[in-house]
Order: sequence, then structure tokens, then C-alpha cells
Amino acid sequence: MEKFTVTAASGSTDVLIGERTANLKNYIRGRNTIIITDNNVASHYGKFFEQYKTIVIKTGEENKNLQSVEFIYKKLFEYGADRRSLIIGIGGGVVTDITGFASATYMRGLSYGFVSTTLLAQVDASIGGKNGVNFMGAKNIIGTFTQPEFVIIDTGTLNTIPAEEITSGMGEILKHCIIAGGKIFDTASDSVSLDNSGRIKITGSGGEDLLPFFISESIKIKAEVVANDERESGQRRILNLGHTIAHAIEIGEKLPHGIAVIKGIKFASDFSTAQGFLDKNENLKITALLKKTGVDLEINTERKQIINLLQHDKKKEKSDIYFVFIRKPGDVFSMKIHLEKLTGALDDLRIGR
Ligand SMILES: NC(=O)c1ccc[n+]([C@@H]2O[C@H](COP(=O)([O-])OP(=O)(O)OC[C@H]3O[C@@H](n4cnc5c(N)ncnc54)[C@H](O)[C@@H]3O)[C@@H](O)[C@H]2O)c1
Ligand SMILES: [Zn+2]
Repeated sequence: MEKFTVTAASGSTDVLIGERTANLKNYIRGRNTIIITDNNVASHYGKFFEQYKTIVIKTGEENKNLQSVEFIYKKLFEYGADRRSLIIGIGGGVVTDITGFASATYMRGLSYGFVSTTLLAQVDASIGGKNGVNFMGAKNIIGTFTQPEFVIIDTGTLNTIPAEEITSGMGEILKHCIIAGGKIFDTASDSVSLDNSGRIKITGSGGEDLLPFFISESIKIKAEVVANDERESGQRRILNLGHTIAHAIEIGEKLPHGIAVIKGIKFASDFSTAQGFLDKNENLKITALLKKTGVDLEINTERKQIINLLQHDKKKEKSDIYFVFIRKPGDVFSMKIHLEKLTGALDDLRIGR
């Protein structure tokens, strides 16, 4: 097991990479513990936490809303949760985002931790202290910044994850590789491939499984950015690479979050090239890496829908929006642009239907 600490202004988090869900009791230390999970994760891993009070929410992004939060508040009330309680979210990014938000707001803040059980949650959603829910069709517009006490990355849980969800997690890993550039980008370019069943694997030159290495590196890349700018007033915006239109693609094409991010990064690369920031050869390298995931990089969401959702983006300021451009792998930057410039690019690049 590898232990790594994420330090941010509001608190720090122990990230335990390779720890097992079965060892959860070591982190509870006698506290009144309440587990939050979804019905899918409960059916796979419920046996590891059946001794604790448990709140089971419905699975899926469509349940990342205030109704689920209210359901959780009612259960916390019934279970007598108080300031000495510990809340643990066990699941993917939907569970960790809702658990973080409910814990941060119930009684003005309870201690909480996560066991992240999808690749996407392990490399991204459970790290960094951003939490929240969707509202009125807009993603993550209600939330807080608070750090969990611990995050257990149980890589064993990935064995029950469908191929598509591994691809989704890969989207965020590749985002981190492009942000960091250098050796990690080159290693990803050399080692990502698909197996016979279409499942992504990352294999080193000696045939070794590099996924645990990429999980750990991904967490470190994100943690470094978060440490410098927890509340996203500057540098943290680069973590939104590919996300500006990914949110619309996610809804429009009903795709897992990280798969929409892969398409969104392709658009960010092409827009960066059109704006003269990203050299064509570097664009080709990024595109080649994205293609290795097997994701069709074509965007099939209606342009009208993309524009409509952009107008409600929480990163928008009046008619300006922050967009993350790429100069080359290892050099990405966020810049405020006029929304019309972005919608113009959708036209120019013939994005969407
Ligand atoms: N807070 C952040 O910084 C941040 C960053 C990235 C993404 N996110 C959010 O994360 C969410 C996506 O997370 P996700 O991709 O983990 O989706 P998810 O939580 O919906 O999980 C995907 C599916 O896998 C199931 N599942 C979870 N663990 C499993 C396991 N071990 N075996 C079998 N099935 C399992 C879930 O029940 C669900 O059906 C989005 O809402 C996104 O906005 C947040
Ligand atoms: Zn994301």
C-alpha cells in the first residue's frame, strides 16, 4: 500500500492507494459511522460494511441531485448523526460527490471519508475536495470545497467495473497526462491499448500492468494543482481541460463522464490548433493517444444543446467563459474568452449535429 497526503487550505487527506475495503475498520476509530453507497456497489461490496448503518442511494448521474441529498439528510437525522459521527461514501464519483456535499452541509459539516470504487473516482472525483450535485440540468452547480479525512483506493474493486467505466476513468488519467506532459505523456502514448474484449489496458514494455502506476501518478498530478489553488481561483482551472463542452456531450450523448471528457479534449486540441496555440504535430500526438482508448472522437451532440448548456456553465462570467487551451503536453492554460468565440469555433470545426 502507498500512502500519500493531499494538502489543501481547508484540510488534508490521507490517500491510501492499494488499501482494501475489508480494512475499513482501521480508519473508523470507534466513531458512530454511517456508510453512503449506491445499490449497485452495495450488491457487490455490501458484505464489507454490513455491520454499519448504511444509506443506499439510487445509482447513476440522474440521481446526483438535491432529492438524493434530502433522502440522505433524513437518514442521517434518523440515525442520530452528530458532529462526532464519521460518514463514509463507498462508490464511484456520484456517491463521493453526494457524500462530500451532504457531509459538508449536515450540521455545518461532519467528518467524512471515501472508498472510491471506480477508476474515475480513484484518479479524480474522490481527490481534491470538490463536491456537489446537479441542478436544473446543469452539472455540479451546487456544492462546496471541503477535504475528506481519507480516501481508500481499493484497486481490487476495479475487477467488477465494466469496460466502459474503465475507459471513462482513462479519460481523466489522460487529461492528467496531457497536463503534466513529459515522461508520463510519453509512457501513456507507448502503453495504452485495447485487449481482445475492447477493455483498456496499460502495459509496460516487459508486459507489466502499469494501471496502478498511472492511478498513483494521476492522483499526484491532481493533488499538486489542488494544493496550490483549492478553490479554483486560478491554476486549478486547468483541471477542466476538455470539460467545457464535455458536460454537454455527457448529457447529449448519454455517455459516462470520462468518455465525454475524451471527446472534449479532442475539441480542446483542435480549438487550440485553430487559435494558433497548439502545433499540428503536437495535436496529432494528443489525438493518437486519445484514439488508443477506442472512443469515437466525433461529437454527435446537437450544437444547439451544447450552446444552451454553455450558457449555464458555472465557469461563465457574463458572456465570457474560461476555456482550457493546450500549447503542448505539459503546457496547458486557462483563458477567458467570449462565449461567441467558442460557439464560432463549434461552427468552424463543424462540431455537433
Ligand atoms: N468532484 C470532482 O472533483 C469530480 C471529478 C471528476 C468527476 N466527478 C463526478 O464523478 C461522477 C462520475 O463518477 P463515476 O464515473 O465513478 O460514475 P458513477 O459513480 O455513476 O459510477 C459508475 C457506475 O459504476 C457502478 N460502480 C461503482 N463502483 C463499482 C464497482 N467496483 N463494481 C461495479 N460497479 C461499480 C456505479 O454503481 C455506477 O453504476 C460525475 O458525476 C462527475 O461529475 C467529480
Ligand atoms: Zn471530470
